[in-house]
Amino acid sequence: MSASQKQLFGLFAHPVGHSLSPVMHNRAFQALGLPFYYHPFDIPPERLPEAVAGLKALGIRGINVTIPHKENIVPLLDELDPEAEAIGAVNTVVLSETGRLVGYNTDGAGYVQSLLSETGINLKETNVLLLGAGGAAKAIAVYLIKHGCASLTIANRTEHKAETLAHHVQRYAAQSHDGKGSSSPVRINVHSWSQLDRDGVKAYQLIINTTPVGMWPNVGHVPLELKELSPGTIVSDIVYNPLQTAFLKAAEQRGAQVHQGLGMFIFQGALAFKLFTGYEAPLEVMRKVVEDQLNLSSSQGK
Ligand code: ATR
Repeated sequence: MSASQKQLFGLFAHPVGHSLSPVMHNRAFQALGLPFYYHPFDIPPERLPEAVAGLKALGIRGINVTIPHKENIVPLLDELDPEAEAIGAVNTVVLSETGRLVGYNTDGAGYVQSLLSETGINLKETNVLLLGAGGAAKAIAVYLIKHGCASLTIANRTEHKAETLAHHVQRYAAQSHDGKGSSSPVRINVHSWSQLDRDGVKAYQLIINTTPVGMWPNVGHVPLELKELSPGTIVSDIVYNPLQTAFLKAAEQRGAQVHQGLGMFIFQGALAFKLFTGYEAPLEVMRKVVEDQLNLSSSQGK
C-alpha cells in the first residue's frame, strides 16, 4: 500500500459513541504524516453481514471491531490468524493485498505486550491467577499460554464458566505445545471464587483482574480482598477508568508492583495500527492523546 494514497479505516461497534479508538488512530496517522482517516461506524447487529461485505466493495483497508460484534464477525471473514481462531473473537480485520478479509485479536496480544514492556516480568517463571472468564479473560489467557507462563489458574464468580474457559484454552495449550515440542506445557487450573478469600493468593506472582469490578462509577469496589501477597507479586487490572483502580491501590499498599489497564488499550491499538499500515505505531503519541481524553472526561465528571 502506498503511504501517499488516501485510505479509510474504521471501527464497527454498537453503540460507537464513547470509543477512544478514532482519536487515537487519527492522531497516530497525523504523527506519521499519513493521509489516512479512521471513522467510527455504528453498525447494529443485524446489519453486520452487509457492513462486512461493504468493506471489500469500498476498499476499506482495515477495521477494529468491538461490542457486540467481536464473535459474530468470525464466520463472515475469509481467514483468521491462529490465536484469533483459538480465542473465537476478532478485534481487528485487515483487507489483504489479495482481497481477503483476515481477522486478528490484538486485545490479548496487546495485554501481554503492555505487561512485558511495563513490568519486565518473566512469564516463564510466573504462576498466574486470572480473575474472570469472559471475552477479555479468554483473549488474555490464550496469549499468556502462547508466551509460556508457568501456570494459569482461572477463578470466576460463576464457576462453570471458569471450567469452560479452562477446557477451551487447554486445547490451545496442547496444540501450541505439540508445535514447539521442547518446553513443558502450561499447567491450567480452576480455583473456586468463593474460596479465594480463605485460601489466599500467595501462590501467584501475577494476579489479573479481567472483570469490570472497580470501573467508574463503582470506583470503590474490588474483585477480591487482597491479604498477604508474595514479595515481588505483580497485580494487574484491565479496567482503565479510573487508571488506578481500588484493587491496584490495595495491591500497592501491600507492596505489590501494579500494572494499569490503559496499556492494554494502547498496545491493542498499536498492534492494529501496524497491521493496518505496516508502520510501527507512535506509542507515546497514542498514549498521550488517550490520557488527555480520559482526563478531560473525568474533569467534566463523565
Ligand atoms: P468481557 O468481554 O469484557 O470480558 P464479559 O464477557 O461480560 O465481559 O465478562 C465479564 C466477566 O466479569 C465475567 O467473568 C463475569 O463473571 P460471571 O461469569 O460470573 O458473570 C465477571 N464479573 C462481572 N461482574 C462481576 C462482579 N460484580 N463480581 C465478580 N465478577 C464479575
